[in-house]
Amino acid sequence: MILALESSCDETAAAVLDPPRALLSSEVASQVSKHRPFGGVVPELASRNHLLSLRPVIESALQGAGVCLKQMEAFAATSGPGLASSLLMGNTAAKALAATCAKPFISVNHMEGHLLSPFLDAPLKPHVALIVSGGHTLLIKVKEFGNYEKLGSSRDDAAGEAFDKVGKMLGLPYPGGPEVEKCAKEGNSERFPFPRSMLGSGDFHFSFSGLKTSVLYTLQKIGTPDQQTLADLCASFQAAVIEVLVTKALSAAEHCGMETLALSGGVACNKSLRENLHEECGRNGIGLCAVTPEHSTDNAAMIARAAAEKLARGQFTALSEDIDPNLSLAP
Ligand code: KG4
Ligand code: ZN
Repeated sequence: MILALESSCDETAAAVLDPPRALLSSEVASQVSKHRPFGGVVPELASRNHLLSLRPVIESALQGAGVCLKQMEAFAATSGPGLASSLLMGNTAAKALAATCAKPFISVNHMEGHLLSPFLDAPLKPHVALIVSGGHTLLIKVKEFGNYEKLGSSRDDAAGEAFDKVGKMLGLPYPGGPEVEKCAKEGNSERFPFPRSMLGSGDFHFSFSGLKTSVLYTLQKIGTPDQQTLADLCASFQAAVIEVLVTKALSAAEHCGMETLALSGGVACNKSLRENLHEECGRNGIGLCAVTPEHSTDNAAMIARAAAEKLARGQFTALSEDIDPNLSLAP
């Protein structure tokens, strides 16, 4: 069994997995309410809260799985990308447990965790991955575990980051993603023709900062929006993001000759994105493998899933190996 920890941003998480894929428990302690008054994640506050939450989260993951530390074959933790002071907490805790129990330590790339999250209870198959999180927007050609080719990424803001910034601009609480989605439900997505940046660029890269600026200029022109205008702004913004994500993901799958497209990352919670992608995949004869909404945002189950693949290959990490806030998944 593997005990995996995740602490790359503001979620403290622990999971127990019986390899290859039997997830026995997955606990997440969210810090959202602690960071909300500041309108975003405060790194020092995040690391202090990881320190406070790690022990109870680990204990309830073990308890939930009905196991004890002695039964663990390996200990895993996220080593990047993320906030240095947050990464250090989970990483050091997992290393300490590995040293104490004299078992191997396995470091996991957070983005590889997201990439595997649609395959939590299924074998990994060749696919094109669309990973949309708060820090990254990636299109990756996946041949097998560890064989990743980056097809494209965002040139500026990540999709989730754009949701969060637009939410803030519109006076919605942090994090903006789920709030913008809620507000968009009552809105008209055609009222504001926001730009679909890089839609026709002929590559698989993205750009969302122009769209964000366009929302800002529209807002400055309108002044304080009434409830309906606010909903229309959210719906129009969301539609612009989704159109670009869906169009590029499908053309990447076609370009690679892949029959499967996988969706993951926090933005994969978005119902409208899921529905649009599902519809377009159906139209184009491509199978969609979407992460469950529960495992879209940061969790340790996905870290355990990646660690199980590494355990099977004997890919262990030296305790002296440092975290890497800028760790990349593929060149
Ligand atoms: O993967 P994640 O939990 O953390 C990172 O690795 O960044 O993703 C968090 C991001 C945030 O930007 C959040 O606003 C966004 O996912 N998000 C959403 C929704 N739920 C979370 N964006 C759009 N619609 C949602 N329902
Ligand atoms: Zn994440």
